[in-house]
Amino acid sequence: MRVLNKLFKQNKKWAEKIKESDPQFFLNLSKQQNPEYLWIGCSDSRVPANEIIGMMPGEVFVHRNIANLVIHTDLNCLSVIQYSVEVLKVKHIIVCGHYGCGGIQVAMENKGYGLIDNWIRNIKDLHRYHREEIEALKSEKEKVDLLSELNVIEQVANICHTAIVQDAWKSGQELSVHGWIYSIEDGILKDLNVCTTSLEEISQTHRLR
Ligand code: CO
Repeated sequence: MRVLNKLFKQNKKWAEKIKESDPQFFLNLSKQQNPEYLWIGCSDSRVPANEIIGMMPGEVFVHRNIANLVIHTDLNCLSVIQYSVEVLKVKHIIVCGHYGCGGIQVAMENKGYGLIDNWIRNIKDLHRYHREEIEALKSEKEKVDLLSELNVIEQVANICHTAIVQDAWKSGQELSVHGWIYSIEDGILKDLNVCTTSLEEISQTHRLR
């Protein structure tokens, strides 16, 4: 007997349900993918990309890691961005963080959790840059939530600072980078209004010739 039988049963049910409304759905999808969106989100099990934005398979290209970070030496994330921008020609890149993010919380503590401390180092730097603003808040929750928002804004900038995105803009490709945050408590997304669509909108220091 197969282990995790329940999951295989659920998978069959799911596929059948989709085929009921569109018998050719999987066959058509197997020929190509043409997503308009790249989603970069947190690995948190409560923040599933497709479900939150009501997207079917084929509609959104997804990369998830702890605390939705875009680090300029992370070949995994950069490859996802490069492939989706240059080959799939997505029109929108969405960084979606979430309130109460465990990665952000851990980064604000001084406990030390092993390997992951290296991954969240960039969040600690961000905390340092915004220390006054964050420490002025009263509750721990408010502090974590503000750093979660600031982290999204920082990752949007990191994406815009890549040669991949800047080359796309220079060649006239239509590409917008968005920063959103999701509330686990009510399932609602909030736009952080940091949408960036051209080279002129990013800081002079990071513009590449
Ligand atoms: Co998280």
